[in-house]
Amino acid sequence: MKPFVLMSLIACGCLMWGTMLWAADTGGEASFQSLRCNTCHKPDRRSAGPSLPEIAKAYNGQQQRLVQYLKGETEPLMDLGKRQVMESKLEKTKEISEAARKDLADYILSSGGK
Ligand code: HEC
Repeated sequence: MKPFVLMSLIACGCLMWGTMLWAADTGGEASFQSLRCNTCHKPDRRSAGPSLPEIAKAYNGQQQRLVQYLKGETEPLMDLGKRQVMESKLEKTKEISEAARKDLADYILSSGGK
């Protein structure tokens, strides 16, 4: 086998493996980015909205409750007096699938707030 064929096979394999790992692990994170939640919710500090660990701490593993919030079915738990800022964002999370909302909730809950 010519060396470059071997090289491209290896490169291709690594790429596929990497993509598989990424897809398995980061569904929630990917939506968090693509829905632009990350512009206001940072992993390390409060910005326009509470930081990810602050939210994780407040919700303390209550995935169901967080999923309901993302559906617009519950009152905000933290309630920082800025709920209208989130109202337009919740329009987006109401539109995604239940599975995608769970992934999003899992991502938020696993963000170092334990
Ligand atoms: C424009 C800035 C902004 C964006 C974008 C944004 N948020 Fe927020 N978020 C806030 C603010 C401000 C609060 C505090 C709201 C309050 O006082 O109730 C908040 C609160 C929250 C809370 C806590 C709610 C509670 O129970 O008190 C969650 C969970 C949350 N956001 C998730 C998201 C998700 C998921 C997205 C993306 C779809 C998102 N946010 C996008 C600003 C933002």
